[in-house]
Amino acid sequence: MKPFSILLSVIAFSMASSTVIADGAIPPNVSLPNVSPANSDLANRGAYIARTADCMACHREDYSGGVPIETPIGNIYSTNITPSQRYGIGNYTEADFKKVLKKGRAPNHQLYPAMPYPSYHGMVDADISALFAYFQTVPPVEAAPEKTTKLPFPLSIRSLMLAWNVINVPATENRLGLTQTQQRGEYLVNNLEHCGTCHTPRNITQGLDKDMYLSGAPLGKWYAPNITPDNDSGIGRWSEQDIVTYLRTGMLDKRAYAGGPMAEAVAHSTRYLTDKDLSAMAAYLKVVPIIKTDDYLIPVNVARLPSPVSRSITYDLLEQKDYLAQAKANTTTNNGTVDSNSSKALYLANCASCHGVDGYAQPDARYASIVGLSSIRRAKPDALINVIAYGAKGALNTAPKMPGFSKELSPVQIASITNYVRVNFGGLTSSDVSATEVKRILK
Ligand code: HEC
Ligand code: HEC
Ligand code: HEC
Repeated sequence: MKPFSILLSVIAFSMASSTVIADGAIPPNVSLPNVSPANSDLANRGAYIARTADCMACHREDYSGGVPIETPIGNIYSTNITPSQRYGIGNYTEADFKKVLKKGRAPNHQLYPAMPYPSYHGMVDADISALFAYFQTVPPVEAAPEKTTKLPFPLSIRSLMLAWNVINVPATENRLGLTQTQQRGEYLVNNLEHCGTCHTPRNITQGLDKDMYLSGAPLGKWYAPNITPDNDSGIGRWSEQDIVTYLRTGMLDKRAYAGGPMAEAVAHSTRYLTDKDLSAMAAYLKVVPIIKTDDYLIPVNVARLPSPVSRSITYDLLEQKDYLAQAKANTTTNNGTVDSNSSKALYLANCASCHGVDGYAQPDARYASIVGLSSIRRAKPDALINVIAYGAKGALNTAPKMPGFSKELSPVQIASITNYVRVNFGGLTSSDVSATEVKRILK
């Protein structure tokens, strides 16, 4: 029993549901890099489904695989799913394909739930057929991924997953009494987009904890926040349009920015969805059960947010450079040395070159404003501290990514910058994060 229970408690995965609405339409006006007029309508619909199911986030845009999915027992690598007969899934029948998606069962072996089959379990047959047709049109990659999964015995016994599946697949139930639009949203959120694999905390067997559905969960160095419609700790104050904008662009002015794993979800998947599908997800997220957590948000007090220091400064890099030099000079102490513990000096020295002296960043240099973001307004400073320590990259940003400062800055300095940012750009009346707290969070 021991190896089995170890296995149960270590593998990340998700949940599913069954009766759902398939939407037959090919999305209008949405550019999909993998749609071609040369392919059948069925295959092109499948291309859209691949986007909504975010296969690319894990198998790469060319489906050649080899992406590590981190789990506590070690990395599980995605595989080549191009139609190569030798290295990919070229020998799959449609029935094989369906079994992989719904049961995690490949022709010769059982998969680990790092492949989100517990969520895909609820996919409707029409969508699976379209997806299968689409995968026949993908250019084959005739190479094995550079890295493959090598778990130590007994974790390497894949058939142990069969028992795990009995307990954990499927785990989300479809709600009764939803409108058609909300039902479509439920299908997208639960089954195709598998949002809960990141946003729902795990139960004791590492299955998704149904009672805490979408209420927020730790995710390596990141934290996927509560997205239930609670006003204080979730996204209850977001309008449906806010949700749509965030899923389309990865940002919401003075509210939220996807800089980590969510940026990946936006970049590979949600930004390609039709307005109708994004609206359906938003409509559904508005009616999921409200769960209040202790990681509450301090609402934006617009009056306390800073104004840009000048109209032009955020756009004029030279003007900003002069201002930065001047501001740095002003934080210099009497004997001429910069007081390196002054929080403003630390912010200016480490952050302002990208985020601007006033937090409004440099839109021309393709950096986004951090003023008012949810990550800097949470009661728990964890998200902000992790961003400072480990860096970030936006969904659509082509500018250099944010480096992590865990090596350059001491916990005292990180705490100091954290407090500066929360008060000056987050509108908090006070913030007293200590070095001890920083150490605990980064441990
Ligand atoms: C969250 C990451 C993730 C997503 C999203 C994902 N996969 Fe996977 N997939 C994996 C991993 C990891 C494996 C290998 C699992 C293992 O070795 O047990 C895998 C394995 C597979 C296999 C088995 C290949 C074989 O024979 O070994 C197929 C087929 C597959 N995925 C298809 C898909 C399709 C189609 C989609 C989108 C609908 C998708 N995957 C989305 C992570 C993912
Ligand atoms: C790979 C993990 C992952 C997946 C999949 C994922 N998210 Fe997220 N999400 C995150 C993380 C982490 C954040 C925190 C922001 C960041 O990444 O910078 C986040 C942030 C958000 C936010 C902003 C909340 C706030 O208060 O700032 C919303 C809304 C959201 N996600 C909705 C969704 C929806 C809807 C889906 C499914 C379409 C989804 N997410 C899928 C990890 C994920
Ligand atoms: C090299 C440029 C650069 C530097 C220096 C930099 N950042 Fe960033 N920062 C980024 C990028 C890139 C992002 C992701 C958003 C984007 O694409 O604009 C980001 C995102 C953020 C976010 C939003 C993350 C989220 O999930 O909400 C915060 C907060 C932040 N940075 C704070 C800081 C602080 C504090 C410092 C100084 C310790 C700093 N940054 C230094 C480039 C930088």
